[in-house]
Amino acid sequence: MIKIRNHVILAAMAGICDGRFCFEAAKAGAGMVILGGISFDAETVEAGLKIKARGKTEFHVELGNLEDFVYREVATAKKGGAPVAVNVRVATLEGLLRAGEIVQNSGADALELNAHCRQLEITELGGGQALLFDFKKLEEWINDLREILRIPVMIKWRANMVDDLALAKALESIEVDAFHIDAMKPGYPEADLEIISRVSNESKTFLIGNNSINSTSRAIEMLKAGAQAVSVARYTLTDPKLVGKLALEVENAIQKMK
Ligand SMILES: Cc1cc2nc3c(=O)[nH]c(=O)nc-3n(C[C@H](O)[C@H](O)[C@H](O)COP(=O)(O)O)c2cc1C
Repeated sequence: MIKIRNHVILAAMAGICDGRFCFEAAKAGAGMVILGGISFDAETVEAGLKIKARGKTEFHVELGNLEDFVYREVATAKKGGAPVAVNVRVATLEGLLRAGEIVQNSGADALELNAHCRQLEITELGGGQALLFDFKKLEEWINDLREILRIPVMIKWRANMVDDLALAKALESIEVDAFHIDAMKPGYPEADLEIISRVSNESKTFLIGNNSINSTSRAIEMLKAGAQAVSVARYTLTDPKLVGKLALEVENAIQKMK
């Protein structure tokens, strides 16, 4: 069972959501903050360097420094007062198990497996979004992870890449604690609320809806579609406090609707 303190979450942004950014968002009122994404195996660390070289924002942390880095950033984020999850980018089971150990020992409240990243350097290794195309491997990896992990496991993915309902069913059967769905629909400028509705109707797993949330009305629409919480990335890119401010507005709007 994941812990959140209200309905609006800071979503992971590689190279941006460090401890300080998460702290600011949490202190301003975010319901949960997601640190990262952080690479946990040599393969994705290497891929991250290539992505960074093309000008994208990334956290580059050598494997030997990961433990210190994650412990320090989680501790900083936690001072903001909201639950903290860590978005984990891996291309190997070894990396996932390393992430499980480090994230759990860091005092984070949840581990979020990144099955969302679509950068070619990561997907060609079988990490990020490529994990969606092999349900069996994904299930096996999560089962192995759960053997060492006592904190909740969340999984983040982009909608409309595979059969979302079949994926949700498979993940529900292995008791993943939360789905975090980027409701992106290729060629469509706003969030695909229908996919949020369909997944929430078919599954009891805690559902975080994401994509294009930049106002109270959009957040409420996503919640009405069936998400139990929403997350925000680009809207808060320039100022982490914006997600906190939005969280407080959304709580007020929910109270008024009661
Ligand atoms: C600069 C940037 C970095 C991102 N890095 C990650 C990441 O490391 N892990 C992840 O799961 N999603 C990552 N995302 C995706 C966001 O969390 C989010 O799913 C996406 O931007 C859609 O939400 P939005 O419309 O609120 O921005 C990133 C997005 C941006 C803009």
